[in-house]
Parts: sequence; structure tokens; C-alpha cells
Amino acid sequence: MHTRRVTYQHTIEYEVINTSNLFHPQNCALLSAGRVEDARRFVVVDSSVEKHYSAAIREYFAYHHVEAKIVTFPGGEENKTIDYYQSIVRELDSFSIHRRDEPIIAIGGGVLTDVVGFVASSYRRGVPHIKVPTTLMGYVDASIGIKTGINFNGNKNRLGAFHAPQMVLLDKSFLKTLPRRHILNGVCEIIKLAVIKDADLFHLLEAHGAQSVDAHFQDEQGGIILDHAIAGMLEELQPNLFEEDLARKVDFGHTFSYGLETRHEAHLLHGEAVLLDILISTLIARARNLLSEEETSRIFRLTNALGIELDASILNPCLLWQSLTERTYHRNGLQRVPMPRGIGGCVFLNDINTDEIESAVKTLEDRITVKHEII
Ligand SMILES: NC(=O)c1ccc[n+]([C@@H]2O[C@H](COP(=O)([O-])OP(=O)(O)OC[C@H]3O[C@@H](n4cnc5c(N)ncnc54)[C@H](O)[C@@H]3O)[C@@H](O)[C@H]2O)c1
Repeated sequence: MHTRRVTYQHTIEYEVINTSNLFHPQNCALLSAGRVEDARRFVVVDSSVEKHYSAAIREYFAYHHVEAKIVTFPGGEENKTIDYYQSIVRELDSFSIHRRDEPIIAIGGGVLTDVVGFVASSYRRGVPHIKVPTTLMGYVDASIGIKTGINFNGNKNRLGAFHAPQMVLLDKSFLKTLPRRHILNGVCEIIKLAVIKDADLFHLLEAHGAQSVDAHFQDEQGGIILDHAIAGMLEELQPNLFEEDLARKVDFGHTFSYGLETRHEAHLLHGEAVLLDILISTLIARARNLLSEEETSRIFRLTNALGIELDASILNPCLLWQSLTERTYHRNGLQRVPMPRGIGGCVFLNDINTDEIESAVKTLEDRITVKHEII
């Protein structure tokens, strides 16, 4: 037997940059990576964003003498499909960008950045891309990591890749036009971080969250909450970008939500499913004395104060158990469910059973009285 070993190390480096007035001609952030002489860019824009910024985007590239092909993409989970993936690849193929220095630009919500990120990861075996999140979900979560993907075969994110962006540009003014339901959708991911790792962030949400939601996070405290959330998220992601360690705090709220989201895709947003999971997990943690009664009440009070309405009627214990089983495969055979230990603390459980889930569902149904209206 003769063995030849190949090893290669590759450094991942990208910047997450706060900016404002992204399409102002004097703002060079969007063109600060890649060639600027004889430059071309393939730009994919969420259609809801295009409505507001169509002229500004076109004028921006024209001003900088960059030939831009601008393709629109409808956001929404129902479009995170292989068909849309293929249609973007076809558009890209007919534009023929340079492989190394004409990064694809993705401007939109988490669906768009996931799909376009997957296009970038697979086109010619990987081309650079820049992400510009325009939803709160994208701003604090989907855009700042390196995961890309599309839904496939009835499963969320079944096809995807780890593919780092060249940079992420954060301009919170995009949130001004985001519908309130989608603001709250992103807030659910901020609550996740607050409960599982950051008691200060939890305090900030208690003190200013409702007002910042009303202000679409354009207020000063809203900016502080966003900065805190992004810092916390990156602190978790950076040492484990490729998820070698499958016990991840940021998976809090992402165990039971998986099945809920898949079953109720038509009327449940990702964050809404995550929050239901957070509350189920909170009650399991309470029953195990990982949370006190007062801490449990604070989590429920915060959810109410922020005005997030939830529909507990979809909480079928069998579905939650199936979801946990599926996630156990995903986590390589162990449940590895992150659970709060006090607000801001975390412990991983591997022995959650069906009785605990049933009991948590019953308690949650009693606590949630407001039926979620589908907008
Ligand atoms: N890659 C990751 O690490 C990661 C992390 C979290 C979530 N995600 C994924 O993110 C997706 C959800 O993202 P989302 O909540 O942003 O959904 P989304 O991309 O579907 O956007 C929500 C809606 O808002 C619209 N929109 C976008 N920007 C807008 C703006 N500025 N003004 C008005 N409307 C606007 C979109 O057209 C869409 O209708 C899910 O598929 C989830 O799996 C990925």
C-alpha cells in the first residue's frame, strides 16, 4: 500500500461593514471589492427592494461606469427552490462574469442571499459574492455567516454549501420599508441570542425592544440592539464557521421549528417557528429547573411586550418529536439541543423525551391566548 497525503489550508476572511446610503454615488462600499476598471457586475435584487430602489441602483452603477446586469428575484420561502436557483444560474451564464474579480452582488432578504450564495458557491465551482441584507432576519442572521442553500425534496436547506461572502454590507435603512410582521420575524432571532447567551441583550430588549420595533430599528437604541446581536452572532459563528462542533448555541430555537416550518411553510415565517420553539424549550427548561419561574415569566413577558402573536394550535407533539428526530440525524446522532440555563446561559441536552414535549405543548397552549392572524 502506498499513501500520498494532501493537505491544504485555506483562510476564511470577510468583513461585515456598517454603512449608510449604500446607493449614494459617493459611497464606494458596493464596489470596494473586485475590479473597477472595465468592470461588470451581476446583481440580484429582491423584487420588493427593487420597487423602492430601482432607479438608485441603476444610477449608481452608471455613475461608476460599471456595466451591471440587474436581475430581480421574488423573496418568500416558496421561492427558495431549485427552479429559481437554475433561473439565476442561466441569467448569470448569459452574462459571463470574470471568475475572480467581478463579485456577484446579492441584495435582499435571507431567501435571496441563501439562494444567490448557493449560486455563487457552485457556479464555476465557486465565484465571489457580496451580501446586502434588506430584512431584519438577513441583517442579524442569514447574511453574516457562510451558509447558503435552497429547499429540496420537501426539506428546508437540503442542498447548500458553506461559502463565505467577500463582504457583507449592512445598511439598516433598508428596514424602513420592511412590513412589521417581517421586523418581528427578525426580532425572534435576536430574542434567541438574548436568551441563550446574552443577558445584557435581553435587558436591552426589555427596556427598548418595543419602541425599536415601532421605529423599524432606525432609533438609537435600535442601532445598539442590532450591533449587540450581530456581535453576539459573529462571536458564535467565527470559531465554528464550518460547524465542526455540532453543539451550537445559535441552534437554540432551531430544533422543533424545523418540522413546524416545513409543515406550515405557507403561513409560518422562519422566526415565528423559531419563537414557538424557544417557548417550548423554555418550558422544558423550566420543568427541569434550568430556569426559575421568574426567568420563564420574563421570557413570556418580553414576547408579549414586543407584540409577537403566535398560533399555538399548530403545536402537535408528534410533529415536534419527528422534528427532533430529524435534527438528531442532522447533528450526527445526538440531540444536542441548546437549552437556557438562566437567562444568558446555555446547556446542551441529549435526553429530551416525548412526555416532556407533550407537557410543554399543553402548558404553552394555555399560556398563548392570542391567535396569530395571517397577514
Ligand atoms: N444562511 C443562514 O445562516 C440563515 C440564517 C437564518 C435564516 N436563513 C434563511 O432566511 C430565510 C428567511 O429570510 P427572510 O425572513 O429575510 O425572508 P425573505 O427573504 O423571504 O424576505 C421576506 C419578505 O420581505 C421582502 N423584503 C425584503 N427586503 C425588503 C425591504 N427592505 N422592504 C420591504 N420588503 C422587503 C421580501 O420580498 C419577502 O417578501 C429562510 O429561508 C431561512 O432559512 C438563513
